[in-house]
Amino acid sequence: MVQRALVFVLLALNQLLHVAGDTDPEDYNALLSLMRSWENLSMNWGGQDPCGENWQGVWCSGSRVTKIILPSMNLVGTLSDNIEQLSELRSLDLSYNKDLGGMLLPSIGNLKKLETLALIDCNFYGPIPDSIGNLQQLTFLALNSNKFSGWIPNSIGYLSNLRWLDLSENQLEGSIPVSNGTTPGLDKLVGAKHFHLGNNKLSGGIPSQLFNSNMTLQHVLLDSNKLTGAIPETIGLVQTLVVVRLDRNILLGAVPSNITNLINVTDLLLSNNKLSGSVPNLSSMKFLTYVDMSNNSFDTSAFPEWLLSLQSLTTIIMEGTQLQGPVPVSLFSLPNLETVVLRENQLNGALNLGARYSSQLKLVDMQNNQISEAPRVIEGNITLILTNNPVCPETGEADNYCLVPDPDTSYSVPPVKCKPILCSSGQVSSPRCSCAYPYRGTFIFRSISFSDLSNSSYLMALEEGLISTFESNKMPVGTVSVSDPTMDSLAYLNVTTEIFPSGEDRFNRTGITGIAFLLSNQIFKAPQMYGPYAFIGDNYDNYAVSLEQSKSSSRGIITGAAVAGFILLLCLVLAGFYAFRQKKRANRAIGNNPFAQWDTDKARGDVPQLKGAKWFSFEELKKYTNNFSEVNEIGSGGYGKVYRGSLQMGKLIAIKRAQKESVQGGPEFRTEIELLSRVHHKNLVSLVGFCFDQGEQLLVYEFVPNGTLRDALSGKSGIRLDWIKRLEISLGAARGIAYLHEFANPPIIHRDIKSTNILLDKHLTAKVADFGLSKIMGDCEKSHVSTQVKGTVGYLDPDYYMTQQLTEKSDVYSFGVVMLEIMTGRRPIEKGKYIVREVRMPMDKTKDLYNLHEILDQAIADFGIALKGLEKFVDLALRCVEDSGAERPTMGEVVKEIENIMQLAGVNPRTESTATSETYEDASMRHHPYNPEFFPYSADFPHPR
Ligand SMILES: *[C@@H]1O[C@H](CO)[C@@H](O)[C@H](O)[C@H]1NC(C)=O
Ligand SMILES: *[C@@H]1O[C@H](CO)[C@@H](O)[C@H](O)[C@H]1NC(C)=O
Ligand SMILES: *[C@@H]1O[C@H](CO)[C@@H](O)[C@H](O)[C@H]1NC(C)=O
Repeated sequence: MVQRALVFVLLALNQLLHVAGDTDPEDYNALLSLMRSWENLSMNWGGQDPCGENWQGVWCSGSRVTKIILPSMNLVGTLSDNIEQLSELRSLDLSYNKDLGGMLLPSIGNLKKLETLALIDCNFYGPIPDSIGNLQQLTFLALNSNKFSGWIPNSIGYLSNLRWLDLSENQLEGSIPVSNGTTPGLDKLVGAKHFHLGNNKLSGGIPSQLFNSNMTLQHVLLDSNKLTGAIPETIGLVQTLVVVRLDRNILLGAVPSNITNLINVTDLLLSNNKLSGSVPNLSSMKFLTYVDMSNNSFDTSAFPEWLLSLQSLTTIIMEGTQLQGPVPVSLFSLPNLETVVLRENQLNGALNLGARYSSQLKLVDMQNNQISEAPRVIEGNITLILTNNPVCPETGEADNYCLVPDPDTSYSVPPVKCKPILCSSGQVSSPRCSCAYPYRGTFIFRSISFSDLSNSSYLMALEEGLISTFESNKMPVGTVSVSDPTMDSLAYLNVTTEIFPSGEDRFNRTGITGIAFLLSNQIFKAPQMYGPYAFIGDNYDNYAVSLEQSKSSSRGIITGAAVAGFILLLCLVLAGFYAFRQKKRANRAIGNNPFAQWDTDKARGDVPQLKGAKWFSFEELKKYTNNFSEVNEIGSGGYGKVYRGSLQMGKLIAIKRAQKESVQGGPEFRTEIELLSRVHHKNLVSLVGFCFDQGEQLLVYEFVPNGTLRDALSGKSGIRLDWIKRLEISLGAARGIAYLHEFANPPIIHRDIKSTNILLDKHLTAKVADFGLSKIMGDCEKSHVSTQVKGTVGYLDPDYYMTQQLTEKSDVYSFGVVMLEIMTGRRPIEKGKYIVREVRMPMDKTKDLYNLHEILDQAIADFGIALKGLEKFVDLALRCVEDSGAERPTMGEVVKEIENIMQLAGVNPRTESTATSETYEDASMRHHPYNPEFFPYSADFPHPR
């Protein structure tokens, strides 16, 4: 309140003393009233001459204000009616101000010169005013991601210059407006390229008048509404269409046959409707890449042969579409094919991928069909799912493809080319390895031409496109990092984006407005494989505030008269004092809770700084573990206890609860979570979330059902591992560790690699656990970190022990010991004998199996499989346990070598063999994998850094 009063006094004085500047007085007054309607104005809006003094976000032509561009400025308040006085305004962009909103007042219609209006992801609600139809010059209208309700005004049909119309993700209802002689409608927008109306509550039919042959539409997105009735024949008249999304409505009847006229369509989504009849022959859509027809009521039919002629297809999704008969072999030889989902049909016969299937093929999901035979060998990294088909027995041993895999959360990130550094809280290490405060946001791609999210070349193309757009527009951007591509339930691809400043460690306001404008106004053109997008920018809280503000206020003083100057000065001192106190107070509050800045985002589910990790309340976790009941206790250690829990969806989790003495400082805990949540790899146990609440600190991990590698080797968990499975586990674990060393950002040294820290999931895939002891790599120059020696006896690198210099090679040593364990079944130290010595001593390279028969695990021999590659395995293990770190291979080299060994053993290292261990399915029932003695998450969590 005090602050607002002071601002008011300042403004009044300013007006009193108005000295003629360059700016038109009406425009100046309009800006003042905007300023008054915003609570926490933090731009440099001071003085009386916005045009002459370069107010941030304000552009002028002569004395007139022509543009107001203030996206992501953290504005709070409403949009003043007086904005109508800006009669020369051509561009208004207030996007990404999450607390700016209220009703959009009819006065907006008086900005007759307005060409672009962007209010994306603000807090506007109520109807879109009819007066919007007065903005005859408008070419770009983006009101997406607000809470607008009511009908889409017919008057939008007057906007004959409109190119871009985005009203998605609001609560608009009623039918789509079309003209009827007296009133206009969307059909009049013949110059428009984009109708983005998805994710609203639109109802009624899709009017046949909506489409006509004069239109030049490229993207029609009507998905996720309540539209019903038939798809109008007239859609076939708009031959310019490229993306058609009518999915997730209640559309009825047959797909009109003249949809085949749309020869330029790349993405066609008709899924989740009630369409019937037969699917027309779409072989004319030569550029079709992504087709989803799922969950309709089509007539029963054979697999559509015409699909086989579409050479561009990457993605075919026809789940629950009444298909029957065999799947044609030639389907899989479509050269760009990545994904085939044909679940819930009656497809039968033998499934055959043929000899020359697409090298891009990643997923073939045929759950719930009548397939009687699986393809014999699958090379490459293809996931095949045949659950609930006759080929999968209902009981007894099943092949891998009979199990429903966990939803694949793995994705790739472009590799980091330097040694990232540990940054202080809030800062992030950029892809060029310097610490800075990035500008964050999320791309929402409303269609894409691919589906293999694990192929990093798609992400890299996006990253490069962004960098070059920022470069050519002279933005102060150093690097860009895009990550975490996820398909949401509306089939929108979300991609997290971090934009890093060049030179400085933070952006100023001018930088942010420039960058956000390029994204909110679609000036950035995404690479070809990406369809239409919306960018949603986050708040940016790290502006270099103090400098910018003091500059502007000093300007105000100079132009003021002497007497008033004194009063002003007094006010400023008071204001300054007040601001100082506020800031101190705020800092203090944040000091108590390092997650304070995250609070506003809590309601939105995932915490944005974290990639996928969720914030749990203590109450929630209490519920999931049945009040931390003893029954759910699955382990304990120095740090506290571990519980099993079950989320609402039935997903199992492992919860690590720190006991009171182990609770670490808030900032340390936060750093740890930020680190853990960045690490995603198929061979690493992933963090699901955390809790920092009521003085408790808990980490929530995915539950890995088949216990530890140690238990499997000892036979304790009922799992028996043949030689091939052992190779696969070695490879998996090595890949996980190599990822920590080479791709995690910043790199992580595990420090406690051992067989009890390698867990086995239900497919017996190795997952490395507990990088809780891990130490982040030091800065760019140093390749080692000096720390107190930690680790487990038997696995400890002697070099590290002597020098106390920790490097990645210490993990290599421990991994070498694990390899020896894997081949011998012995513990590192058994009856006082050290495994490394025990293998080295009898070794004789001239003899069969290096003369190691005695020490080999009897259990591998029992399988009767030839131990192909064993000698090379021993060689590799012994290189890993060389005394000097320099002589050991890197984990990357270890991965490559194990891959070679697997080839020698006749297994393609990129596929998982079907599990040969007889009993692993029910192993978790018989033996508790999380026994206290060898508890996998057992490091001294949480640990101080
Ligand atoms: C289809 O796309 C091509 C290439 O973009 C374009 O030249 C052609 O005019 C389009 N066809 C129609 C009917 O719009
Ligand atoms: C689909 O249409 C094309 C061209 O109109 C035709 O050549 C092809 O035989 C048709 N395919 C099927 C399976 O009907
Ligand atoms: C990734 O996608 C590109 C472009 O489609 C393709 O050329 C490349 O082979 C793909 N890589 C993998 C590993 O599938």
